[in-house]
Amino acid sequence: MRRRSIVGNWKMNGGLATLAELDGIAAAAGAAPDVDVAVAVPATLIAPAHARIPTLAIGAEDVHEADHGAHTGCLSAAMVKEAGASFTIVGHSERRGDQHETSHDAFMKAAAAHRHGLGVILCVGELQAERDAGRAERVVQAQIEKSLPDDAHADWLTLAYEPRWAIGTGRTPTLDDIATMHAIARAKLRQMVGDTALAMRILYGGSVTADNAARIMAVDNVDGALVGGASLTAAKFAPIIAAAHRGA
Ligand code: 13P
Repeated sequence: MRRRSIVGNWKMNGGLATLAELDGIAAAAGAAPDVDVAVAVPATLIAPAHARIPTLAIGAEDVHEADHGAHTGCLSAAMVKEAGASFTIVGHSERRGDQHETSHDAFMKAAAAHRHGLGVILCVGELQAERDAGRAERVVQAQIEKSLPDDAHADWLTLAYEPRWAIGTGRTPTLDDIATMHAIARAKLRQMVGDTALAMRILYGGSVTADNAARIMAVDNVDGALVGGASLTAAKFAPIIAAAHRGA
């Protein structure tokens, strides 16, 4: 059975004062030992977050594909690792949208992260217009095909299905739609990397809250959640971690 994973993504939110939230998040993680809990934070908070709670997996929200060089404002995988990150998100839909990143960029970033020993959460997901046009499945299959590194393995790579239109909107797909998309993602992974795909976790992301987390995680092939807004406070995030806990 795949261990569940609950990952917070703070996006461009939080500061030193917010790090106190990690205390409650770590406590919730401690009460759910069968769940892998992690939080991706703004780069400025990686080192202080890691110093505050060394036992909690802290991640970056993005890395550059190159190891070093003339890339003003960017951070390499080695840099965020040195700061204390153990993983990074790549291909988030906000970066695909706002920064015009492609699946090939995500592929290069995932490879760079792996080269430096970081875990990778690779995000895919369709836009509203693509879903309306009946293309959601094909879009996600193509994103996986173009962004999954050839040597992807369950030990270091987690896929996250995050439909763009569900992010920060309070809207989620139906449970049937989530089941369909996760089954398609699993089949695509299996076609590409073989049986390690069966051990790979596929997270759902997009307006996950304490109210819907248990229902969503009960869906086949949903191995946890990537949580934005509801990960910013322990009060909202802890119940999601608890919902992932299968029991003693
Ligand atoms: P919300 O949970 O705020 O919808 O964000 C989801 C997300 O983008 C996580 O990466």
